[in-house]
Amino acid sequence: MQKFTLNKAVFPVAGLGTRFLPATKAQPKEMLPVVDKPLIQYAVEEAYSAGIRHMIFVTGRNKRAIEDHFDTAYELENELEVANKQALLALVRSVQPDDMNFSYVRQPRSLGLGHAVLCAEHLVGNEPFAVLLADDLMVGPEGGPSVLAQMATQFRQLQQSVLAVQEVPLEQTRRYGIVAAEAVSPGLMKVRKIVEKPAPDMAPSRMGVAGRYILTPAIFEHIRRQTAGVGGELQLTDGISSLLAEETVYALQYQGKRYDCGSKEGFLEATVELALQHPEVGQRFRQYLSQLKLS
Ligand code: UTP
Repeated sequence: MQKFTLNKAVFPVAGLGTRFLPATKAQPKEMLPVVDKPLIQYAVEEAYSAGIRHMIFVTGRNKRAIEDHFDTAYELENELEVANKQALLALVRSVQPDDMNFSYVRQPRSLGLGHAVLCAEHLVGNEPFAVLLADDLMVGPEGGPSVLAQMATQFRQLQQSVLAVQEVPLEQTRRYGIVAAEAVSPGLMKVRKIVEKPAPDMAPSRMGVAGRYILTPAIFEHIRRQTAGVGGELQLTDGISSLLAEETVYALQYQGKRYDCGSKEGFLEATVELALQHPEVGQRFRQYLSQLKLS
């Protein structure tokens, strides 16, 4: 059997970000910074850590800042060079390592995550690929592999689709794709069923899909077969549900933590926790927080 390597990641960033208005009126949600780095950079770094070198962005209107962020900033770099600010120059240049490639495609209307993934089909071609939703900020275990790197390790063995899952509170099943799955080995499950945003009493389990997927190219055909699902959008979950009839799909209960930065609460939690760990500001921020009177 031909063994595929994972070399492409799709970042759907064409959503409207309505939960963050007015901040997202003229700038992409994915450019909101957690401490000093935009959400999209965390996701790109995670893909890079999983060995992926070709980053594909599905963008929309008001998203040009993302392209600029991963491009050379000629004037800025020149100013820093002239001022001999080498550390800052290295920081700016580290955003796009020499061996990283970028492609951009537009999703003309926000017709759903499934539709956004389909927009990248011609750039992905007939090979497996990762999908990362940048508003889910994933932090791997301390000193351990990133969440996508954990999934890529499984993929190398299995050569089948792998979804990142976590146990979610029963009252929150409406926010997730929920899987019914059977254990294969510790942390790894075979998916039997997947349902988009079920009510708690309809949910087949409490295993919710987080915003990280490794998919085989067969998914494109299965998304195309779907009609608009929950919310009038073409759902990736429905495509995966259809794929299950043809291929095995695995779910990995990853090690690490997910921050739902598409919501204000999750974004604030990520900001506080990552600030506490930040080498430059962490210690002072901890002191500041410990002095706060919270009642
Ligand atoms: P969300 O459900 O978080 O939607 O999409 P959203 O529009 O970004 O945010 P809210 O809910 O209005 O606040 C999950 C991911 O899928 C992308 C989004 O950019 C986000 O990364 N997406 C969603 C698309 O790229 N296109 C779509 O049509 C829908």
